Amino acid sequence: MANHNAVVTGYGFHAPSRIVTNRDFEKMVDTSDEWITTRTGIKERHFAADGESTSTLAIRAAKVALERAHMRPADLDLIVVGSASPDYLFPATACIVQSALGAEHAGAFDVEAACTSFISALAIANGMILGGTARNALVIGAETLSRLLDFTDRTTCVLFGDGAGAVVLEASNASVGVESAVLHADGSKGELLLVRAGGTRMPASKETVEQGQHFIRMQGGEVFKLAVKSMCDAAEEALAAAGVTGDDIDLLVPHQANLRIIDAVARRLHFPPEKVFVNIQHYGNTSAASIPIALSEAAEQGRLHKGDRVLLAAFGGGFTWGAAVMEWWGVPIPDRREKGLVGRAARTVDDLLERVRLPG
Ligand code: ACO
Repeated sequence: MANHNAVVTGYGFHAPSRIVTNRDFEKMVDTSDEWITTRTGIKERHFAADGESTSTLAIRAAKVALERAHMRPADLDLIVVGSASPDYLFPATACIVQSALGAEHAGAFDVEAACTSFISALAIANGMILGGTARNALVIGAETLSRLLDFTDRTTCVLFGDGAGAVVLEASNASVGVESAVLHADGSKGELLLVRAGGTRMPASKETVEQGQHFIRMQGGEVFKLAVKSMCDAAEEALAAAGVTGDDIDLLVPHQANLRIIDAVARRLHFPPEKVFVNIQHYGNTSAASIPIALSEAAEQGRLHKGDRVLLAAFGGGFTWGAAVMEWWGVPIPDRREKGLVGRAARTVDDLLERVRLPG
């Protein structure tokens, strides 16, 4: 069955107030503003302050999204946080968000697929809404990657940033909403991009800390080669699954990892620059957060309007990649209560269909 009725009704993002420029990095490692700008497109990024973490950034983004959706936390059925830099191994960051928001009826869990985490979380939430196990979901991408950076390794530390973005996804017959979502992985390439220590295979120890094994390590060139092909392949698959072509897309919102990767993807998919959203210059690579931050900024800047069709595409550690097509809604469902769209989650498809008339 085609995906017709999980629609974004609210969106928001939060970037920590501390901005670190390329010039700041010139004082830390052997690099230059010129090298970082020409190789990556990044000019500055935001880093969390002491006391901030992935959950605190996620909570701030979530509050903005809920406000825009006119959704009370108590009416949420589900919270999914995509992140490669959670507060803890467990409990899930989503549970910390759930408690802070007072989302007393929501289930909550994290999804980890590195930079593909947000599209993965969106795909799961979409499926649960279509399947009738949730009426709505708060889908968040949030990262505090600065805590995993080796500030003596110039090949990684200049690339990443912190932040969070969130969308509220709701069952609705008002829009086609999420039309397709495709996910892929190749675990044999895990060594290309990883944080080796701190899990159960290599528990944190004095030695792992001394050797910097708890930092992000990346073979950037190899990742670069896979990134363009995998994002393009996923984008084409998601377009086909939605029954549309690139001409039907109003805005491409790609994962913001490197401007050269974004440009190469846009060229290969025949998207002119005005149909591609880019904000990597201000945030760096915020991994799971980059797409929801970009979606929120695009909407705030008037680049994304109700009824527009959006293509999302991402790749990341794992190796993982994916894409999604959706019709952007971005405003609250006007008479949610009258339509019975709040309250208990549907337990069966019949229960769902009773309360949300599907098109056709
Ligand atoms: N400043 C100055 N010089 C640098 C820096 C730096 N910050 N970093 C590397 N260099 C040097 C290298 O040491 C090398 O020097 P050498 O020739 O003397 O050995 C030279 O620059 C070229 O290095 P390359 O790695 O070949 O540079 P490249 O053009 O490939 O750019 C980069 C590197 C930006 C990392 C690129 O490979 C890239 O963007 N890869 C993809 C990375 C990515 O997208 N990662 C995110 C994945 S998403 C996720 O899951 C987190």
